[in-house]
Amino acid sequence: MRKITVVGAGRVGESTAQILAKEEFCREIMLIDVREGAAQGTALDVQECAPLFRFDTIVRGSDDSAAMRDSDLIIVTAGLPRKPGMSRSDVLDANVAVIDGIVDDALKYAPDAMLLLVTNPVDVLTYHAWKRSGWPRHRVFGQAGVLDAARMAAFVAMETGFSAKDITAMVLGGHGDLMVPMTRYTCVNGIPIANFLGKEAIQRIVERTRQGGAEILALKKNSSAYDAPAAAVAAMVDAIRSDRKRILPCVSILDGEYGEKNVAMGVPAVLGAGGLEKVVDLTLNDEEQAWFRQSVAQIRADISKLV
Ligand code: 2OP
Repeated sequence: MRKITVVGAGRVGESTAQILAKEEFCREIMLIDVREGAAQGTALDVQECAPLFRFDTIVRGSDDSAAMRDSDLIIVTAGLPRKPGMSRSDVLDANVAVIDGIVDDALKYAPDAMLLLVTNPVDVLTYHAWKRSGWPRHRVFGQAGVLDAARMAAFVAMETGFSAKDITAMVLGGHGDLMVPMTRYTCVNGIPIANFLGKEAIQRIVERTRQGGAEILALKKNSSAYDAPAAAVAAMVDAIRSDRKRILPCVSILDGEYGEKNVAMGVPAVLGAGGLEKVVDLTLNDEEQAWFRQSVAQIRADISKLV
């Protein structure tokens, strides 16, 4: 990948740029922010890490959206963050306008790019960006499930004491309180967690995962999480730029999979050079199905608020 633009030089944008630069996932990173000087200052700070972390990535910043010209990938982190006590849907109105502007800029300056949405509420805004862009779904997708699954895996590591390296978790559904942590697909080196944890402990992990973002926001008070969100974005970028064909939970536009159409939801998908190359359609059990439907209903309710 040659050029990646990160729109929004807030905390998630900055951490993302830092990881992408350090890992040399592309030749050039362009940070864009409407606040004058914010992207330039952040980019310079990241660029000055180059001799220390020993990377060649060029990191630039701009407050002019034309700077995204010819990007291969545009990562959207811009928008209003939620405050303690707010749900992700509470920032929908403010952030739709932000996304509209970015999509229009992408159509103008980087019509062949992929769009990776991070701004909340990410499911609804991914759907909205897909509609507005008119691009095929393999080029418009969002980050949520990689973060939610990482949180779940971290909680399993904390509960069991086992190495986080051996734990894989899966979370489906919307990035909200009704997300669907898939406990039967959550394993320690292939062994389902039910072999190590009782029902109560598993339920505790499920609830903590659903509240994972809110837990951090309530503790920090003036900031949402950004380290793990940025690491999650970087994992998706790596899968795409190295054509790894990783199966990762992504906010995907559904086209009949899981019995749903015309909605964006977190489901496992194959990520490779073509972007979101394929949605993996799993058969859910009754309980998972019930959660999934509730989560879809919540996202559809927000989508119906969009004009
Ligand atoms: C989170 O879950 C902010 O949605 C983000 O931390």
